Amino acid sequence: MNEDTLTTTARALVAPNKGILAADESTGTIAKRLASIKVENTEEARRSYRQMLLTTPGAEAFISGVIMYHETLGQRTDAGVPFPAALSERGIISGIKVDTGAKPLALHSDEKITEGLDGLRDRLTDYRERGARFAKWRAVITIGDGTPSEACIVANAHALARYAALCQEAELVPIVEPEVLMDGDHSIDRCEEVTARTLGEVFTALRRHDVLLEGILLKPNMVISGKGCATQAKVDEVARRTVRCLLRHVPAAVPGVVFLSGGQDDVTATAHLNAMNRLHADNPWELSFSYGRALQQSALSAWGGKADQLGAGQKAFFHRAKANSAARSGRWDE
Ligand code: 13P
Repeated sequence: MNEDTLTTTARALVAPNKGILAADESTGTIAKRLASIKVENTEEARRSYRQMLLTTPGAEAFISGVIMYHETLGQRTDAGVPFPAALSERGIISGIKVDTGAKPLALHSDEKITEGLDGLRDRLTDYRERGARFAKWRAVITIGDGTPSEACIVANAHALARYAALCQEAELVPIVEPEVLMDGDHSIDRCEEVTARTLGEVFTALRRHDVLLEGILLKPNMVISGKGCATQAKVDEVARRTVRCLLRHVPAAVPGVVFLSGGQDDVTATAHLNAMNRLHADNPWELSFSYGRALQQSALSAWGGKADQLGAGQKAFFHRAKANSAARSGRWDE
């Protein structure tokens, strides 16, 4: 393992003013996004949409890296330049989603286990040759009646640790993503408790597998009220509880925490990140973003699948990237 390469890449991904664009929706998930703007899910539609985001002029001031899906990593711009090369020309680092999805956990009907470890070593070597320098694996934890089970948390933490170790062996920085879903009517207390348990198990597993903490990024959910909860915690409370939970469970050796947006609307996701950085400027890690929907929603609508609306889509993406860049150091001004 080349520790210098890993730590340098991890730090570059959370460089001042910058965060990550998650544009790694699987073909099934992007189908839903395209359907929302009445665009057919063809390979060319997926390429055009990703090209719009990836070639937005000036976005390199706010975006350090882009997470892509397998298909996207092999696609090219209109000018024939492979996406990873087009990004690299602007100083943006290419990332790749390497899990193969969250599947039902046996004997635990409402819970999921993320798969994709079989053959992963060879796939990682191939992805690195094709320009990727970091990877992502998402584990899903569901809050419900009697869930999450210990089996679900421990199995997912174990898979995340095995994935992270394989990535570091291949000189790819692993983004370790244990997502506690915001679906449900649970309180923010319950979210904090489950997030704490999950992060505790994840770091136990990472240590057990000798993963270099300086060479990973953590991608967690924020500590937030369930979507259906009657009482919705305010922005400052989300910020305070999230940072408290991280301080208790995330070692200072980790260079950065890059949040997922998880279904929050785009402005709320920015406001939460801003409050965390404004209220807690002395955190041991960088607190930044790796948003999917919260960076893409407005761009997707503005573009609408129309070639003549490319500029409008890019303008919307630029706007959100700039806002989150400011929020990442508590300087966002509504
Ligand atoms: P959202 O920000 O839409 O949650 O997506 C982030 C992500 O990469 C989920 O794996």
